[in-house]
Amino acid sequence: YADDGYRLWLKYDLIKDVAKRDDYVRSAQFIVLNGNSQILKSAADELQTGLQGLLGKSVPLIANAGNRTGGIVLTVADAPNADAQTLTSEGYKVLPKQNNIAIVSKTEKGVLYGVFALLRQIQTGQLVNNLSLTSNPKIQYRLLNHWDNTNGTIERGYAGESLWKWYELPATVDPRYRDYARANASLGINGTVVNNVNASARFLTDEYIQKVAALANVFRAYGIRVYLSVYFPAPKTIGGLKTADPLDPEVRKWWADKTKEIYTVIPDFGGFLVKANSEGEPGPQDYGRNHADGANMLANALAPYDGIVIWRAFVYKADSKADRFKAAYEEFTPLDGKFDKKVIVQVKNGPIDFQPREPVSPLFGAMPKTPLAMEFQITQEYTGFATHLVYEAPLFKECLDTDTYAKGKGSPVSKVIDGSLHGYTTTAISGVANTGSDRNWTGNPMAQANWYAFGRLAWDHTLSSEDIAHEWIKMTLTTEPKAVKTITDLMLRSREIYVNYNTPIGLSRPWSGIHFAPEPWLEKSSRPDWTAIYYHRADSIGLGFNRTATGSNALAQYRLEVQQMWNDPETCPLPYLLWYHHIPWIKKLSTGRTLWDELCTRFYTGADSVGWMQQQWAQVKPAVDPEIFADVTGRLITQHKEAIWWRDAWVLYLQQYSRQPIPAPYKKPE
Ligand code: GCU
Repeated sequence: YADDGYRLWLKYDLIKDVAKRDDYVRSAQFIVLNGNSQILKSAADELQTGLQGLLGKSVPLIANAGNRTGGIVLTVADAPNADAQTLTSEGYKVLPKQNNIAIVSKTEKGVLYGVFALLRQIQTGQLVNNLSLTSNPKIQYRLLNHWDNTNGTIERGYAGESLWKWYELPATVDPRYRDYARANASLGINGTVVNNVNASARFLTDEYIQKVAALANVFRAYGIRVYLSVYFPAPKTIGGLKTADPLDPEVRKWWADKTKEIYTVIPDFGGFLVKANSEGEPGPQDYGRNHADGANMLANALAPYDGIVIWRAFVYKADSKADRFKAAYEEFTPLDGKFDKKVIVQVKNGPIDFQPREPVSPLFGAMPKTPLAMEFQITQEYTGFATHLVYEAPLFKECLDTDTYAKGKGSPVSKVIDGSLHGYTTTAISGVANTGSDRNWTGNPMAQANWYAFGRLAWDHTLSSEDIAHEWIKMTLTTEPKAVKTITDLMLRSREIYVNYNTPIGLSRPWSGIHFAPEPWLEKSSRPDWTAIYYHRADSIGLGFNRTATGSNALAQYRLEVQQMWNDPETCPLPYLLWYHHIPWIKKLSTGRTLWDELCTRFYTGADSVGWMQQQWAQVKPAVDPEIFADVTGRLITQHKEAIWWRDAWVLYLQQYSRQPIPAPYKKPE
């Protein structure tokens, strides 16, 4: 039947190659399940469902293998067990054992992850006889952050309404919550922050805690804990106190009581996510306190429980003279070492705001005594909403692989956030979710790949963008080798193509309203710093933001080696050039073209490349489900139109300053 995308990468369609299928059948005669906990039951259910679909055969559950061979044995092994020795608590092994496939972990959760790993092998057509996999997650807390509101809207959501039906909960529990949990568990995501960082205090009322508890009850069976974003002044707004000062004893008691109330109904509650003193959200600074005072107060409330505080570092002042790039570093580095051990500071990948390409945030190289969590944005706020096809794994990887030099060469961001560089014991990574009530979850079917890629990288940041794309395509779209290759190429190039027509060579764009349209001319907005000139700094001489010592000096926030990489306009790699330098229009770049000609080349080839994407996609028609094929085809038409719109807006706007002609290949005849 036509595929509407609902099943994501957990399709489990019958394997058509009979020989291959028979081979799997021989290794999957039975499933041994010893124990009856919720999570083990989910693991067994998923394995049965998956095998039923893939092999067209119902595989029985038994309690003991006895002498039988050719089955799959799910084992929670205690520490002395030799098989479990190299495993951390959520890790798993899949290994041949007495002519069975053993899935071993120290925990039930690990068994569940091992089951999904085995299914993935089968879904991607790999052998399972003698399969031997060992995998430990590199990061402890792997979270989705939902920016969902009580009224069902999603801030920066492009795939419908919120998945959470607050008006129906807790009495009515949509079966979709379980499918959401399955999809996340299949990637190893183990927590979800269910509400917007611009948080409503209502989430801390008894009414909403009951609703959230109903979600937690579903997610628990898949090893997923719920977290809440909190409104810092809640003790005032819903608690009736006169202040929300984090050092006030009554305020502290209010949070301690509230936390207790939450744990009474959600015993495995994950903790709090906080946006404070950021973009108008109140916070501890309103009372003359700092971020650490606020975060530590919440950590104190969580002290009796296994929960954490995730405190965001996304801060900047409404000051058009300041460089917002520098704000988080300025506010947070003085607090390094001052946070409670239950606190993780969550930093966006770049210093500004999820742009199509940003350099890494300087904070990653500057907080050795504070665990830092990565915040990536999966939802495509600045990368074309649900119409533009932008595969984000290369963006995530580019950030994770960047060397901070925090402890000399070989200190990439990935090692900062996985704790290995500074010995953080608490580690976390968050992705701002792109899911919604659309039947296919993400609006653009291709955007499912971004959810998938985030989850896979959260588990193991050493996976390559290409391997993740292969997996996802084979599990979701097609296993036909030529089509897999064509779609992989398309996905791998998509982000760079977007950057080319949107913000090439480190160009920054201003944004307003819904953050959708090109508006490089933006002059007025609700804040003095949210205007065009702050971002791109176009003038009659040139373009770009001088962040060297003669400008804002933001570069000084990086380690010397990193500064050296970007400091000199002659050697600064082109992708970052205008992030750090104001370059004359007529300056010759390393490509041999002037800045102006290079920009035009990028805008024009970028928009043209969407035509290439359309051609590539057209080729895979026979290999992909017709409904998904038609959906993506339509979105690519829109993307092409909008890429031209971006190109023309930029070229015509910047031309007022450059006063240069559009270079010959792109110039339309008079
Ligand atoms: C961006 C986004 C906001 C969001 C903010 C944040 O600015 O546009 O909607 O609230 O980031 O991350 O807090």
